[in-house]
Amino acid sequence: MAKYRIAWLPGDGIGVEVNEAARIVLDKVGLDAEYIHGDIGWEFWCKEGDAFPQRTIELLKNVDAAVFGAITSKPVKAAEAELAPEFRGKGLIYRSPIVRMRQLFDLYICLRPCKAYPGNPLNFKEGLDLVVFRENTEDLYAGVEFNPVPRELAATLSQISKPFAPFSKLAPEDYAISCKINTRKGSERIIRAAFDFAKKFGRKKVTIVHKANVVRATDGMFLEIGREVAKGYPQIQLDEANIDALTMWLLKNPFNYDVLVAPNLYGDIISDLCAQMVGGLGFGCSGNIGEKLAVFEPTHGSAPKYAGQYKVNPIATILAAKMMLDWLGEAEKGARIEKATAAVIAEGKVRTYDMGGSSKTLDMARAIAEKL
Ligand code: IPM
Ligand code: MG
Repeated sequence: MAKYRIAWLPGDGIGVEVNEAARIVLDKVGLDAEYIHGDIGWEFWCKEGDAFPQRTIELLKNVDAAVFGAITSKPVKAAEAELAPEFRGKGLIYRSPIVRMRQLFDLYICLRPCKAYPGNPLNFKEGLDLVVFRENTEDLYAGVEFNPVPRELAATLSQISKPFAPFSKLAPEDYAISCKINTRKGSERIIRAAFDFAKKFGRKKVTIVHKANVVRATDGMFLEIGREVAKGYPQIQLDEANIDALTMWLLKNPFNYDVLVAPNLYGDIISDLCAQMVGGLGFGCSGNIGEKLAVFEPTHGSAPKYAGQYKVNPIATILAAKMMLDWLGEAEKGARIEKATAAVIAEGKVRTYDMGGSSKTLDMARAIAEKL
């Protein structure tokens, strides 16, 4: 029996291609693993009314880790139109499977390292090495949303909230509510994870990302917890930044930042920004990490317009596979993958279209595998 059981969830679009590439590298590095395919993606929404079928949820309950590619998603009405006739009109609502997976398995850490590998022509600045910790289960991703707004809810809100009163005169379909729900536990554990990481890897600074001057209840609490947690890590510098100003400062003085920790949506945004600074989404890798399970994926989406062409850069997924090895306790193999990837980037002979080359997805994977 293999040492590890890994759920293999390519999804759709280019997810299939980048996962195939990552497998070439994992096979070559010699991980003793059994890979079990899981159905997930747009196809299953259309055919079965569920993009993340129950059988795949069951599979995830019995594996050590998973590698996920990408999934196409469409707005609610467009999604409904593509359902098989027997599922239409039943009130099924498309929700992103990866968001559901993060919540269902309590994968509360979204870890997104953004490192500028030397010689990458897409680097914003050489030497950048940022790490984003994004809260992964709550905040504006809680999924508590109303459009139209039920009258009972409007009535309650107008009674208990003064600023809400003007909206309560509107017709239910003339406004919408998405709840930003943050818990003490959720905030504390992601902030603690960021500080623990900083301590373990000798990082100097943790920046708490917020908008506490305006979003006072939730972000105010996040910031307050951040200050509290920081007291337990006197060796690490505590930094605080408003999300809006941060996007500006990150571009202006990127070397002022080290580890960043943010509530879910701000974390989503800054992780794309940071990924772009180290080469774009072709380099953004991501770990969704809980206590029992972790799911590794590229930060990018399914890019339907490139699907089937085997032209996209698989490095994000290969680095996600490297993160999985670290998480499994196979750090030596993980380090070999990173070294091989860095060597191929530095050499500059094999480059996908985003890097200005014409190499194909699997050529890149093979070039990395050869250096292992
Ligand atoms: C990400 C993605 C997802 C998110 C989408 C695909 C739902 O943007 O992983 O950053 O918003 O979390
Ligand atoms: Mg995102």
